[in-house]
Amino acid sequence: MQTRVRRIAISTGGGDCPGLNAVIRAVVKTAINEYGWEVLGIEDGYDGLLGYEGARVRLLTLADVQGILPRGGTILGTSSRSNPFAMSVTIGDQLHIVDRSQEAVDRLSQLGVDVLVAIGGDGSMKIANRLQALGVRLVGIPKTIDNDLQATDLTFGFDTALQTATEAIDKLHTTAESHHRVMIVEVMGRHAGWIGLEAGIAGGADAILIPEIPYELEACCEKIAERNRSGSRFSIVVVAEGAMPVGGQPHYVDTGPGGGRRLGGIGPHLAQQMAMAARVETRATVLGHLQRGGAPSAFDRLLGTRFGVAAVHLIARGGFGRMVALHGQDIVDVPIEDAIASLKLVPPDGELVRVARGLGISFGQLSGAVRPGR
Ligand code: F6P
Repeated sequence: MQTRVRRIAISTGGGDCPGLNAVIRAVVKTAINEYGWEVLGIEDGYDGLLGYEGARVRLLTLADVQGILPRGGTILGTSSRSNPFAMSVTIGDQLHIVDRSQEAVDRLSQLGVDVLVAIGGDGSMKIANRLQALGVRLVGIPKTIDNDLQATDLTFGFDTALQTATEAIDKLHTTAESHHRVMIVEVMGRHAGWIGLEAGIAGGADAILIPEIPYELEACCEKIAERNRSGSRFSIVVVAEGAMPVGGQPHYVDTGPGGGRRLGGIGPHLAQQMAMAARVETRATVLGHLQRGGAPSAFDRLLGTRFGVAAVHLIARGGFGRMVALHGQDIVDVPIEDAIASLKLVPPDGELVRVARGLGISFGQLSGAVRPGR
């Protein structure tokens, strides 16, 4: 079906991610070169669309996207918490949550936007799906370093984050070996342990602790003891920020006044516990936002570019409410609903976990029993 389109808008929502600029560049170039459409860039996710002084948007030209392919971050800016269905508004000294979704719909129409390109992860796709129900024509592009979005084999950004985490493990290996220490590396992954699992295997970790497989401290200590007995006087433990002990809770850090709490800090916490329980010298490194920063890998530039081009062609075909996705080697499109049906978690009995177990990597379990992911 051919659809009349003159102007599209791009928004980058949620946490930033290497490859976002590659996507923006591909969308702008394809929209202008192949279809002659105008492209509006919305600044800072939905915050920019719902700015109180009016929408913060700018026309993106071919010149605007020149040279951005290798740059990390997003030239449009983003916002982790911005959701038109639940915007935080301070009235007096009170924080209120208000639904401004209809304003978002109206703003898009006032701006003459025919179709919105929503680039984001699970949260952004859920918002996109709800906006679509309010009549917004849109297509989605899957982004997240966590790789936890369903209906696509990969999201762009994951490969770069994986490389960053693996390089960090490599570096920690040499110092761990010199000092005969246990090095604990905390990586991102709130609910899904893909970065931890894959970086742990690629970096040769001795234990990998992920949210999908709750761990036992005793089992982690036993792994260290086993290595010591075999003459290896150092160990590397990779722990995802959302990992939790059997029957326990994930670890949170306070974000300061008004900020609430967020997942994190399991690495230093575990280092302390292991030092006490196993009587070994431990150090913890939290990789944090290093995993989101920096230049995208060649793979992410390519995947982001393919997604961006495919999203524009999808619009031209009238494929609204759909998200571009990678299936095997092919770029396809799927209903956004499929992408948000559930998070894509590491299957505890999947091939990669079996590979790791075969290599002798511990998941922090004494019994070998696994609990299914949430
Ligand atoms: O992009 C996903 C993610 O990297 C999570 O793994 C992490 O918990 C979160 O973003 C942190 O985001 P922020 O600090 O921007 O809120």
